[in-house]
Amino acid sequence: MKISKNYNLTRLNTFGITVHAKFFVEINKETDLKELLTSVEFKNNQKLFFGGGSNVLFTKDFDGIVIFNKLKGIEIIENNSDFVLVRSMGGEKWHDLVLFSVNQGFWGLENLSFIPGTVGASPMQNIGAYGAELKDTLENVEAYNIETGEKKVFSNKECEFGYRESIFKNKLKGKYFISAITVKLSRKEKKNINYKVLQEYLTENKIEIKSSRDISDAIVFIRQSKLPNPKVLGNTGSFFKNIFITEEKLEDLQKRYPDIPYFKEDDLIKIPAGWLIEQCGWKGKRVGNVGMHEKQALILVNYGGATGKEIENFSLQVINSVEDKFGLKLEREVNLI
Ligand code: EPU
Repeated sequence: MKISKNYNLTRLNTFGITVHAKFFVEINKETDLKELLTSVEFKNNQKLFFGGGSNVLFTKDFDGIVIFNKLKGIEIIENNSDFVLVRSMGGEKWHDLVLFSVNQGFWGLENLSFIPGTVGASPMQNIGAYGAELKDTLENVEAYNIETGEKKVFSNKECEFGYRESIFKNKLKGKYFISAITVKLSRKEKKNINYKVLQEYLTENKIEIKSSRDISDAIVFIRQSKLPNPKVLGNTGSFFKNIFITEEKLEDLQKRYPDIPYFKEDDLIKIPAGWLIEQCGWKGKRVGNVGMHEKQALILVNYGGATGKEIENFSLQVINSVEDKFGLKLEREVNLI
């Protein structure tokens, strides 16, 4: 285990912002973590656990230690005629776990194809897309308490998942290092193709779903056509969360905006933040080095050379204009550091 000083994080955050961390360390095996926990650099500094850097906005240098999870390995730990349990270490790329699963015909992760980031980061915000969330398949999360060094296995329920939320982002923020997750996948067909955008794409292209791999391929195609590639244009996927409102609020909004799109999810009503932002004229708009993507108004992009502060300021303007027009407060999905 090697602790580096004044480490450049440009290539490690998908916004491509140039900032430095006072200390930086890679965790390649679980014993590295044990060693790290006793080090002075770890004990005396604020900590930031890092996966793919695809959900973080640095507004300044990080005056602490960045811990980069590089634990590797994906294995089937239980296998029967109905389901399989697949365990993946936290440093694996999320999409590699999806591919591992769909290539063997397992059902459950296909709707979450091509989400950037790592497996270890996935429970933090209960990643979700195309009508599925991690919580639908997650069996447990293995994580180390960074004060005691003890490992705890969190059941799905103990993770307190919500829309882009978990206990690791709230009550236990910064207290655990996620080393591995286990997902429970179905061996029997379990199609989930009700999400509007997905359904439209399958119908338009006359695609018949025969395997989880077919769904995965469709989603990779949709995402590639709509979401900018962070290697070309710095971004973190959705910068904001969608908004959930009550029936009364919807009725009120419909009086002024009869065309407002909405989706019923459980007992709440989801208003796509992308629509609200688009209505305020931000879609495709650029200010200096920062802009709102032309194909998806939820995605803030760095056209090159933007600072974290510039991106933050741009996002504040968007939040204010949506609040002025609709009386709805956008929340960031991205973590500001
Ligand atoms: N819409 C617009 N204008 C836009 C974008 C969206 O009007 O520019 C409206 C349309 O009504 C559209 C609806 O929003 O029908 C839904 O759009 P889309 O399917 O693109 O999804 P989203 O709600 O904007 C969410 C997730 C994405 C995920 C997609 C697909 C959040 C914050 N975002 O976006 O997640 O990929 O659904 O399921 O929940 C991410 O979190 O980084 C991310 C990309």
